[in-house]
Amino acid sequence: MSIDLKKEREKIVSGSANVFYDEEVKITGERYTSHSFMEKEMDKVWAKVWNIGGWSNEIPESGDYITHEIGRESILMVRQEDNSIKAFHNVCPHRGNRLVHDDNGSSPSFTCTYHGWKFNNEGILVYAQDEDDFPQGNPCGKINLTEIPCKIYGGFIWYNMDENCTPLFDFLGEVKKYFDMHDLNGMKRVYYKVSEVPFNWKALRDNFNESYHLPMTHPQIIDYFDDDYKNTDFELFNTGHNLMKMKGCLPSLRDKGTFEMNEKLEGDLLNWNLNPKDFDGKAHLVREALQKQKRKLGSKRGFDHFERMPDAWLTDAFHFNIFPGTSITFTAEVCTLQRTEPHPTDPNKSIYDHWQMALRATDSENPETNPTMLVASPEDMVEWKEVDKHVVIFGEETLSDVADQDLDRSSAQQLGFHSRGFKGAYLSGQENRVQQFHNFIDRYIYDKL
Ligand code: FES
Ligand SMILES: [Fe+2]
Repeated sequence: MSIDLKKEREKIVSGSANVFYDEEVKITGERYTSHSFMEKEMDKVWAKVWNIGGWSNEIPESGDYITHEIGRESILMVRQEDNSIKAFHNVCPHRGNRLVHDDNGSSPSFTCTYHGWKFNNEGILVYAQDEDDFPQGNPCGKINLTEIPCKIYGGFIWYNMDENCTPLFDFLGEVKKYFDMHDLNGMKRVYYKVSEVPFNWKALRDNFNESYHLPMTHPQIIDYFDDDYKNTDFELFNTGHNLMKMKGCLPSLRDKGTFEMNEKLEGDLLNWNLNPKDFDGKAHLVREALQKQKRKLGSKRGFDHFERMPDAWLTDAFHFNIFPGTSITFTAEVCTLQRTEPHPTDPNKSIYDHWQMALRATDSENPETNPTMLVASPEDMVEWKEVDKHVVIFGEETLSDVADQDLDRSSAQQLGFHSRGFKGAYLSGQENRVQQFHNFIDRYIYDKL
């Protein structure tokens, strides 16, 4: 019996309507090229929000530390004896020397290279040369590192440069509810690349705030995700964050008249002990079958968090944009972070991070005795182990095929932002998250929150 394509399609389409569209801000090229706008963003946005300073597994032992550069600021994060992490401005309070110059390390104390002031891991000054020669009083124990709010949550280290900031969980709002469904603490960072890229940080943020570009920019993903906006859910939160739920394990039905199978779907079925032959010409049924099978086998394979997740999360992509600079995309077994942060001096450049965190291999029945089963990274299958940062010179090495496509478009867009012919963006309804993002930047800058 032949399948009625139209009827079948109607059965599985369930996207949310795009009702939010409020053009508070005209998105002009100047927002991406102006030095003065960049300075405003640094003072009023980046210095006020919760930022991810690192992955907490990076500094497991007391005395381990990392630094994170953001614009012209540098933050030092140090693991404490009680297992918490403290964050400090990475500057010596004596005369302003940069205190720590490494990306990471381990040390019981930090000694400034200029006059030798020494701080312990809690940021307290424990030694100053000629401590009696200070008319204002001995600085030891008094002139300490400047500590800022810092919290470990979801495997990430979060800090905020604003001492009077709202608590992290208030900042995250609705997003936390979703994060808590996953098993972030059980993950390892298996992919970690960083690169200085030739465009303003917001160009790539815009890209991650819409899926309108998928058919043209990433034609390879339509075998696996239904990019049709009518079948996709978008949620815009009043915190400035947003969420896109895109159906996965479902080939794009946008312009297709068939439900033919493909290699990626077959691979997933085999991984979960299902027979691809049962789905010949019925690719649209794979998603639901996989949800049922993962529900059945998940706990046996060590994925207890599946119990907390709705069916959709077992197959779909849950793509969060955390205001201002971070995208975190979850599937059932992995979590990808991509973000851009401002360059210290040039609005035409930014720093791009691409991480992937993975749970143990999906086809491992016994992860305890087989811990190096391969897991997916954005480029290929890799061992399940924490990796070090790899700095990529942009253009000389891949940052994954999908990311390369996005980065290429943002690079070309930065050229266009300087054009006298660009009068400002003209957005579709499904690009409303781009508008929301810019509205929130201005709300932060002009104190309209
Ligand atoms: S600037 Fe650090 S000890 Fe003087
Ligand atoms: Fe993209």
